Amino acid sequence: MAKDAKSRRTANLATPNDLGANASKEVAGGLNILLADVIALYFKTKNFHWHVSGPHFRDYHLLLDDQAQQIYGITDAIAERVRKTGNVTLRSIGDISRHQTIKDNDANFVGPADMLSELRDDNLKLVESFRNVKELAEAAKDNATSGIVDEWTDQAEERAWFLFEASRKA
Ligand SMILES: [Fe+2]
Repeated sequence: MAKDAKSRRTANLATPNDLGANASKEVAGGLNILLADVIALYFKTKNFHWHVSGPHFRDYHLLLDDQAQQIYGITDAIAERVRKTGNVTLRSIGDISRHQTIKDNDANFVGPADMLSELRDDNLKLVESFRNVKELAEAAKDNATSGIVDEWTDQAEERAWFLFEASRKA
């Protein structure tokens, strides 16, 4: 009985879709980890935007705000790819923390050079995750996810580039 009720509740969220159930679940799993990582990186970028200090304050403060906005801008599309393929996505800050692989930085003080290099590494980690999701999407014949990931990858590579150049000594 309890099992029936549970499967009815889940069925309510099963958007019609012709992708194979198992393969699309794997893509959704990858997208949900990505969503958690993107939100974690969004918050870390804002954290550094708020706490950056030093002679390049204005440049870094503005750069990190631009990047945070760009990162936040893809969250809805990631979650909705999961829903369009008949799966469920994240529901809370707790859910994000259980899925994220990008680490938070709660240090009291982080120097500006360390901020830039940590964010650069996190963005490159994101690029790797985008590649993995693209592979899963292609295996599942999920063309839309595979296509949309390219733009997200390009943006993350651009952020890593800006962070690298801004942190160069000369
Ligand atoms: Fe701000």
